[in-house]
Amino acid sequence: MRGIKDKVIIVAGGGSGIGAATARRLAEEGAKVVVGDINADGASAVTDAIRAAGGRATAQVFDITEDESCADLVATAVKAYGQVNGLFNVAADTSQNTLGRDTTVVDVPLEVWRRSLEVNLTGYFLTARHTIPALLAAGGGAIVNTISGLVLYGDRNRVAYGASKSGILALSKHIALGWGKENVRCNVVAPGLTLTENSQELNSPQYRDEVLPRLCSPRFGRPEDLASAVTFLLSDEAEWINGHVLPVNGGRGLG
Ligand SMILES: NC(=O)c1ccc[n+]([C@@H]2O[C@H](COP(=O)([O-])OP(=O)(O)OC[C@H]3O[C@@H](n4cnc5c(N)ncnc54)[C@H](O)[C@@H]3O)[C@@H](O)[C@H]2O)c1
Repeated sequence: MRGIKDKVIIVAGGGSGIGAATARRLAEEGAKVVVGDINADGASAVTDAIRAAGGRATAQVFDITEDESCADLVATAVKAYGQVNGLFNVAADTSQNTLGRDTTVVDVPLEVWRRSLEVNLTGYFLTARHTIPALLAAGGGAIVNTISGLVLYGDRNRVAYGASKSGILALSKHIALGWGKENVRCNVVAPGLTLTENSQELNSPQYRDEVLPRLCSPRFGRPEDLASAVTFLLSDEAEWINGHVLPVNGGRGLG
């Protein structure tokens, strides 16, 4: 892919799943990658594998809910590679304790609602807030935020997760409108059911059997499907794409 080599990209939540696959793909394309995650072992495993394959990557333990931790993540990227050209926000609290206990507006535990907003929405606000000045200093750059298909289709359950992901849409359009003239783009990917370790734990085989017939594709998503879409959106190939949502979902929603 053109227009991604040598760019410095932060992957916020790159210690597993879609974020890890995207960090690997970015490095394969010649980008310098900073993998931030609350899971230290996950982040290091990803950057070790990238470096073993000849790529450039730095791991940083960070908590997306902490303002100072997000500032440090950006500072680490600048210190390691001199500037920042892109941010992929992909972290989410997908744990059994949070997403696993998310239900309806009537039943959801208040702490699940609060934690979902804290990690999934406030977290993206904090990383963006610290990255935008760095992108401006580099003459512009790109942000890609991760929502979910349920923002587009609605969901009977997972009210807290859905609300947090819907908020990211407004945040992303705000950034596109506010900083587009200064060459900062902000787009959104909306993954459909993608077979990461975590999503396989959370979504039962019975649920998966219900979803598959609703897709045009004969299969579920792979982390690499998201990695290629995100790499494109972060590259100069997507220079005139700003403020949009790209569903990467095997054609769900047609028919
Ligand atoms: N996999 C799917 O089917 C699917 C579908 C729709 C949307 N998504 C979205 O895609 C993204 C990635 O999903 P995934 O399946 O790869 O999940 P995942 O759980 O493997 O990845 C999430 C990452 O975020 C990190 N994280 C959690 N809390 C954090 C914190 N406080 N600070 C820093 N990092 C933190 C985790 O350690 C993990 O590495 C998420 O935003 C998810 O909501 C996934």
